[in-house]
Amino acid sequence: NNPVTSIKLVLLGEVAVGKSSIVLRFVSNDFAENKEPTIGAAFLTQRVNINEHTIKFEIWDTAGQERFASLAPMYYRNAQAALVVYDVTKPQSFIKARHWVKELHEQASKDIIIALVGNKIDMLDEDPTERKVAREEGEKLAQEENLLFFETSAKTGANVNEVFLKIGENVPLK
Ligand code: GTP
Ligand code: MG
Repeated sequence: NNPVTSIKLVLLGEVAVGKSSIVLRFVSNDFAENKEPTIGAAFLTQRVNINEHTIKFEIWDTAGQERFASLAPMYYRNAQAALVVYDVTKPQSFIKARHWVKELHEQASKDIIIALVGNKIDMLDEDPTERKVAREEGEKLAQEENLLFFETSAKTGANVNEVFLKIGENVPLK
């Protein structure tokens, strides 16, 4: 029997950037074209084996709608890891991501591991002019704020597992 380490992880980001879709891809390897907006928050778990260790992700998927914004601190307060998600085709969602990173640094646990995630990169395959947030912008913010950085597609699955595996490698095992 492998030792099991639990990691409390929260997802934050503007409405419709694909937070729930990233979780659905990671937990069920599935995608829904018309995913309904999250109400309040959703809780899901997923286990992953890394070397001889089992990591159990305890995932709080928060709602991006403004009317739920006041709930967020409840979910990030005890989190050991956070995914701050934006949509690479929506500049406003990157501005919102900056705000979340700032808030986490001010309010969350001092040793929280934060991954900045630019989602929906599949949309650039069809039409590269859809990209509105340069990869370099994401990289720069990540470097300045000491974040992990990924560009993902919940639709194709590109890089989704990698985000969680990297977090698993970076959270100190007890
Ligand atoms: P809230 O719960 O309202 O905060 O939204 P959310 O961030 O959880 O977004 P959600 O996962 O519900 O996705 C919103 C819409 O974007 C849905 O129609 C998804 O199918 C779509 N979507 C999510 N991820 C991707 C992706 O990687 N590529 C594409 N093309 N569409 C995506
Ligand atoms: Mg959602």
